[in-house]
Amino acid sequence: MAGKLYGIGVGPGDTGLMTLRAKEVLEGCGVIAYPVKRIGEGSVALEIIKPVVDISEKSIEEFLFSMDPDDSVREKCREDNLNKMCRLLDNGEDIAMVTLGDVGVYSTYMYIDAEIKARGYETEVVPGIPSFCHGAAVAGIPLMIGNEGLAVVPVAKENSRLLENAMDNFDNIVVMKAFKAIGMICDMMRERDIPLDRATVVCNVGLEDEYVGPIVRDREYGYFTTVIIKKKG
Ligand SMILES: C[S@@+](CC[C@H](N)C(=O)[O-])C[C@H]1O[C@@H](n2cnc3c(N)ncnc32)[C@H](O)[C@@H]1O
Repeated sequence: MAGKLYGIGVGPGDTGLMTLRAKEVLEGCGVIAYPVKRIGEGSVALEIIKPVVDISEKSIEEFLFSMDPDDSVREKCREDNLNKMCRLLDNGEDIAMVTLGDVGVYSTYMYIDAEIKARGYETEVVPGIPSFCHGAAVAGIPLMIGNEGLAVVPVAKENSRLLENAMDNFDNIVVMKAFKAIGMICDMMRERDIPLDRATVVCNVGLEDEYVGPIVRDREYGYFTTVIIKKKG
């Protein structure tokens, strides 16, 4: 019988925020998989599970999802990954792919899930706590309250309109992948008369070097940086 593929959200950093379901599924799977953009870069998600899941007898599999600008290189990588996964599933292995935060929030896993399902295998998503939910909790702020809405948008060079629309139309905005865009976010807030103290930077929440505090334009923030803007304070 073929194995099953699981996408497991392990929360944003603190092992204590993993769900009981995530731990149970991870313990039952023979293969723990994680996606990387570069060979050998390791996985924060894998580190998160180690204190509570014994991985010593499990096969740990790295899956490279190349960010090469050449479409054919990226496509070959993807195809190789899917084939490798199918071989493991055909051998009866249950695979758990670990994902930082929640699986449904900008994770590579959901692409894989669709492809593997289309090839006739069983899959399951185990949700986790998204980084912005943990960040809001540490900051002691509600993400939305009463009738307010929330926009969650990523920063990318080609989509500053998306962020502008969110700032124009929502009371609360979560800006993901914000690490290189702090200046741009500050400018957009100023243009809209949104005081900068309405922004909270959530960096490495639940990890070493956690910073949850005011936005500082000239400060360097790492990749795990999210900004929560509450226009009504
Ligand atoms: C590819 S997305 C993954 C999101 C993740 N699935 C989640 O549920 O939060 C990467 C972005 O998530 C945010 N992120 C992930 N972990 C974080 C953490 N520990 N602290 C702050 N932001 C984090 C950052 O905005 C980062 O650029």
